[in-house]
Amino acid sequence: MHQLTKDLFRPTMHFTPPFGWMNDPNGLVYINNEYHLFYQYYPYANKWGPMHWGHAVSADLRNWQHLPPALVPDDKGMCFSGSAVVDWRNTSGLFDNEPQPGVLAFYTACIAHDDGRDSEQMQSLAYSKDGGFSWNKLADNPILPNPGLKDFRDPKVIWHEQSQHWVMVVTEGQEVGFYRSKDLNQWEKTANFGLNEGKHDEMPWECPDLFPIQLEGSEICYWVLIVGVQRCSHAGGSGTQYFIGQFDGERFTNHHDAETVLWLDYGRDYYAAQTWSDVTDGGRTSIAWMSNWLYANDVPTQAWRSAMSVPRSMKLCKTDSGLRLLSEIPKEWGLERQTHPASGTSLNQGHSLKLSDSYQAGVVDATFIFEIGSELKIAPFGNESLVYIVCRSEAGYHLTTKRVIADEGEENYQKTFASDVMLDLPQNDELNLVALIDRCSSELLLQQGEFCVTDLSFDSCVSGYELTCIKGAVKLERLNFC
Ligand code: FRU
Repeated sequence: MHQLTKDLFRPTMHFTPPFGWMNDPNGLVYINNEYHLFYQYYPYANKWGPMHWGHAVSADLRNWQHLPPALVPDDKGMCFSGSAVVDWRNTSGLFDNEPQPGVLAFYTACIAHDDGRDSEQMQSLAYSKDGGFSWNKLADNPILPNPGLKDFRDPKVIWHEQSQHWVMVVTEGQEVGFYRSKDLNQWEKTANFGLNEGKHDEMPWECPDLFPIQLEGSEICYWVLIVGVQRCSHAGGSGTQYFIGQFDGERFTNHHDAETVLWLDYGRDYYAAQTWSDVTDGGRTSIAWMSNWLYANDVPTQAWRSAMSVPRSMKLCKTDSGLRLLSEIPKEWGLERQTHPASGTSLNQGHSLKLSDSYQAGVVDATFIFEIGSELKIAPFGNESLVYIVCRSEAGYHLTTKRVIADEGEENYQKTFASDVMLDLPQNDELNLVALIDRCSSELLLQQGEFCVTDLSFDSCVSGYELTCIKGAVKLERLNFC
């Protein structure tokens, strides 16, 4: 009975593996009107183990169909993280006269040693002749042997149209390496990026992504480079930073100062974000592993462990702080927003508004206007297991996230999970919020998605989404519920 209760944490609008362990999203590719999601998967236990690529597809980024694992470990190693891309021109030469466009998956083959030696990591290729459903590993793997690095993994491969080359960006310790190739077989190293840029800790950067994106409302194109840090995110532990700049097919140059740090998310549970390749309208949609290496193996779920974030459509905008990526719920979700009866009213000091009695999953979409000095408590689970306190001063809005341990779990989880995290939002009259609540997570997209905050919370006594005005008065200018 106790075990069954615990599976109540399984989300309803977030992707989870059917059973077993999951970490990073891998090989995100859009083909034949479907989004393929591969992921780091160990199907035989609920802790990290020899890595497979799990697999699922969806037409709307919300309802996923589970498929058999696409890649499984063999004597050439486990299948660590990587990417996938459609080989439209058959540059690889693997797809003569196939009815389906060929799909290529690049992953790190990793051979672990149990005698204390470092693991061996090298870049390998698998291909699919049936539109991404079944996969063969190349007989001649690896395509890029290890140049002598301890950490050499997570290849993201793109076709770079301007230089007519394949480009691979891959973790090389505290930086990423760029390689290029005409035939996917011979790779030439072109550059490194990152040693003195952005955030670093004692662990290697992980899971790079690289893509072009047009600045909203202009013809100007920038490039975005995403990388994961393992121990020094804004909220502590794993997190995902990004750089905006230019990429000429050989090297990436940062548009900002080396010290500028941009986070895709300021919460504790948004790691290893990747974006889908080959999306027809050129849009960029990301998804991330909704956990943190500090406690991922120990959170209190049983049959499955870890969920993905909700996919986010990203656009590049000029904000008051400079160029930033803004995230929103993908249009494919087709959310129908209903106006809440309290929309347009005000919440005064000491008053609460319960948006739902038995909250399972849902989306709140709101605009609040705070009197200066006002404070609002947002309790996604209606209790104190995870609360956000928003206050407004002359300088702008300030968000404090308070998370406590609400359910027992393993010792390490008990030690590392609870946290208080602060975030300043620049001066703005309104607070714009989209909140996605599920059985064990809350994702806030604030100020049109310029600031995202993703947090897990495990409490079996969920009692509905609640807003409480602690101080002053807060106008619920617009309050929608889906
Ligand atoms: C990131 C990561 C990757 C690696 C994978 C192994 O979470 O450590 O660098 O490829 O997980 O599962």
